[in-house]
Amino acid sequence: MKSMFTPFQLKLDVSTFSELQLIQHVKRYLGDMPGYFHDQQAVATLLTKDNPLIYEYWEIPNDGSSLISISMTRIAAGVVGDEYFMTKGHFHTLEEDGEEIYFVLQGLGYVLLQNRDGERQTLNLSPENLYYVPKGWAHRAVNCGEEDLKFVSLWPNSVGHDYKSIELGGFPQLIVKGTHGPSVIQNGHYHSYQTL
Ligand code: F6R
Ligand code: MN
Repeated sequence: MKSMFTPFQLKLDVSTFSELQLIQHVKRYLGDMPGYFHDQQAVATLLTKDNPLIYEYWEIPNDGSSLISISMTRIAAGVVGDEYFMTKGHFHTLEEDGEEIYFVLQGLGYVLLQNRDGERQTLNLSPENLYYVPKGWAHRAVNCGEEDLKFVSLWPNSVGHDYKSIELGGFPQLIVKGTHGPSVIQNGHYHSYQTL
């Protein structure tokens, strides 16, 4: 059994993670993400007929004995209106310690990044690439491909997650499906965190 107390080796695929004992498995359906997608009419229409699974993740439990947290995320392919499926996104609560590494295994997309000074960045996600999220930067992954987007995350266990700021202010960028593929547009409903 894998635990944070003994050495282990782990094949990086969803089936390995999902079969691990004592793993935490979180599923986020559209209905779990009120207000996250910009086209609320499309959300309402989808919810009348379906409540699609947007993403799920598997996390190795850590009671604080290990400094490192490890998880695998799978974002399904799809759109809500014109906006691609994505994670909620969050800041880490202890911003001075809150850096993170993402390693993409499969799929194509973006990671949206912003900090509380108003800086923002958008990086393309693709397999066999590693992404560094600096301290103080909120992060959200978006799947713009035709298949699942899968990535592994490593971050300091102690830092905690602040979802509230994103629920209140969103991200400045949205990734939408255009006639020529994904495009990055400005989020008209974005609120800078300094003004909240
Ligand atoms: C951990 C981290 C990832 C996400 C996962 C789900 O700090 O960034 O493991 O937790 O991709 O996304 P959220 O947490 O935004 O629902
Ligand atoms: Mn994180």
